[in-house]
Amino acid sequence: MGFTANVSNFFYDAKIMSWDVILTILNLVGKKRRIGDVTPEGHPGYGGHWPEFKPPQETDSRCSCPGLNALANHGIISRSGRGISFVDLDRHVRATYNISSTLSSFVPHYAARMLKKSFNNDTFDLEELDVHNGIEHDASLLRLDAAFQPNQSTKHVPYIEELLSSASGKDKDGNDVITVKDLSKLLGKRRAVSRAVNKEFTLKPFHKLFGCANASLLLSTMGGRVNDLHDFLLHEQLPEGWESRVRQSHGLTLVNFNKLALTIEFGVREKDWAQVAQEAAEHQGTSPV
Ligand code: HEM
Repeated sequence: MGFTANVSNFFYDAKIMSWDVILTILNLVGKKRRIGDVTPEGHPGYGGHWPEFKPPQETDSRCSCPGLNALANHGIISRSGRGISFVDLDRHVRATYNISSTLSSFVPHYAARMLKKSFNNDTFDLEELDVHNGIEHDASLLRLDAAFQPNQSTKHVPYIEELLSSASGKDKDGNDVITVKDLSKLLGKRRAVSRAVNKEFTLKPFHKLFGCANASLLLSTMGGRVNDLHDFLLHEQLPEGWESRVRQSHGLTLVNFNKLALTIEFGVREKDWAQVAQEAAEHQGTSPV
């Protein structure tokens, strides 16, 4: 990366981080959005009415991220998953999931840098996001490692079912809810087992945090509710009537998103899964289910 790009990225990051702190404070003092009024008027999904869900066709482009695949499956970004502008991604992620302008801008900027593209002028296909050890990494919650499943848009249903059945919490109506502890536990298992069975396993601290950051998005935006996560993870579909569980007026900020990600990371105990990992390595077939 050239000197000018480095300087420009530095100033962009500094601006985003400072603005994010301000938005976090404004969220603390401001009123929350009313239930039923979280998705902004004029954006698809307003009032809980999402555009028609259509599963992807053979030639469509999809990626490892259920959040982005769902946008394409509902036609909020191009249904083909191709030719998406980073600018549009920022806008639609922000409105659909009630993500702060800082977080919704930061992640697509990061993706554009990873793909050596211009945030303002370029487009991408969803599958391009799956550069191994770019954002995509081993020991994920919902996908087999890339060494076992090179097409990272492929959902690993047993992992998803395990996640859904791990929910130990309840909401006030008695529905199952996935908790921070459940996610830390499962991430510990994924890391221990992947490390034992995948000869190409890598997971830098940076990617551990990415894993927790995605888990943090799942908890915040879906509220951990199993009923909603069933459609979201297995079909990459936004349930009818759904709206983001983030109700702060300025959306989920980087500060709060990272705070939750770190709480999940501090709870991960890979060592607790040593025995399970050893058994998985001994009984290893073609994939680490
Ligand atoms: C803003 C742009 C976004 C980009 C560029 C992006 C990209 C990615 C990528 C590359 C992965 C794969 C990571 C891995 O290997 O595990 C991923 C996973 C994931 N993303 Fe996104 N994502 C974005 C927004 C969102 C949003 C708004 C949500 C909201 C729910 C979300 C939820 C998730 C979840 C739950 C995972 C799965 C993690 C796993 O399998 O462990 N993402 N995302």
